Amino acid sequence: MANKSVKITETILRDAHQSLIATRMTTDEMLPIVEKMDKVGYHSLEAWGGATFDACLRFLNEDPWERLRKIKSKTPNTKLQMLFRGQNILGYRHYADDVVEYFVQKSIANGIDIIRIFDALNDVRNLQTAINATKKEGGHVQAAISYTISPVHNIEFFVKLAKEYENCGADSICIKDMAGLLIPYEAEKLVKELKKNVKVPIQLHTHYTSGVASMTYLKAIEAGVDIVDCALSPLSMGTSQPATEPLVKALEGTAYDTGINLDALTEIADYFKPLREEYLSSGLLNTKVLGVDINTLKYQVPGGMLSNLVSQLKQQNAEDKFEEVLKEIPRVREDLGWLPLVTPTSQIVGTQAVLNVLMGERYKMVTKETKGIVKGEYGRTPVKISDEFTKKIIGDEKPITCRPADLIKPELDTIREKCKEYIEQDEDVLSYALFDQVAEKYFEQRRAAKYKVDASLADMTDKTYPV
Ligand code: CO
Repeated sequence: MANKSVKITETILRDAHQSLIATRMTTDEMLPIVEKMDKVGYHSLEAWGGATFDACLRFLNEDPWERLRKIKSKTPNTKLQMLFRGQNILGYRHYADDVVEYFVQKSIANGIDIIRIFDALNDVRNLQTAINATKKEGGHVQAAISYTISPVHNIEFFVKLAKEYENCGADSICIKDMAGLLIPYEAEKLVKELKKNVKVPIQLHTHYTSGVASMTYLKAIEAGVDIVDCALSPLSMGTSQPATEPLVKALEGTAYDTGINLDALTEIADYFKPLREEYLSSGLLNTKVLGVDINTLKYQVPGGMLSNLVSQLKQQNAEDKFEEVLKEIPRVREDLGWLPLVTPTSQIVGTQAVLNVLMGERYKMVTKETKGIVKGEYGRTPVKISDEFTKKIIGDEKPITCRPADLIKPELDTIREKCKEYIEQDEDVLSYALFDQVAEKYFEQRRAAKYKVDASLADMTDKTYPV
């Protein structure tokens, strides 16, 4: 057997706490340990992007850019990685190319090395601007396939997509199984085919939600996967990633040996253990998310979507319709061209399925977002939506077929003008571009805090002059 060392991306600074404690780990909680993490020999530390940017500004009163710079200053030996939602960047709509390009430029300038770029629809056009910008700035482009299960999402489909990404300039490909739907023998087949057909490294990202993830990793590793995403044990398993330490131990002394020292990991895990206890006692970490939820495999929908449906139905006093709504989901997906289920498409499909069931007639009420999908506003669906269905939903209106962002004029200058009174660093315009009101509130708090410091300084100055 050829020696094929497996590499590990550590997710505890991003996805692990995003998945388990609603992205609430603070920079102060991270900083005391990152120097040690830098010495482990990880392939990369996923430390930024995803929901961390929003959570910093909205809940933690922190500047996300400052967090990135602080982490970077303590991790000179390890690549920093971020998650980037294609033309949505880290926000919830398509942005103009000038915003995407500037965001990439500033991310790399502040310390990011690898950008994992994905799109909910797997529309390659929605990744292209971010890919080009990352290459221009000298970053590593990791293009991610949003993994899903449907009659059209077979191995051929994913191989074709991976080749397309490779042709667009991807330096590596990630199978992004955000819902934990990838089961071990499927992973084996998928990785084997990808390895046969693309030259760049293949990385696998999954969640433990359904309880199969470490088996999935082992089969994927045997099939030749190059890198896997793990989280240190205190914030692993459940809706997070498989734990780092057991995987390292399991591969030790084999052809797949990670080369990572288990003692080094244990020391870092010991740092996070008391934090886990704090999260548990404050209720931030709920034991509900730590168990095995087999329903995601049974119904092939993400765990988060199932709990959303339950609460939507509860609000309508219609909990008895749960099974019916679950049966409606694949029908809505089919109508909408077999969308993968990931933010925002999981919410769009879920809400429309609830409406279809509760109204007693399918598409009697249609959400703005469902119309948006049909109009092509989110991009190209995996399968073309039928003409009959299009007509039923948007009448004679013509769907767009171009890349959605082609219709958005450059917007950076206008945004800069709108927030100029708050700007203290170049990056502030990007925070405002993505989360205007939230950023504005943060900027105001930042200014207020600064005035407090100024006042105390003035006091001290007074004291130096005897009266
Ligand atoms: Co994830």
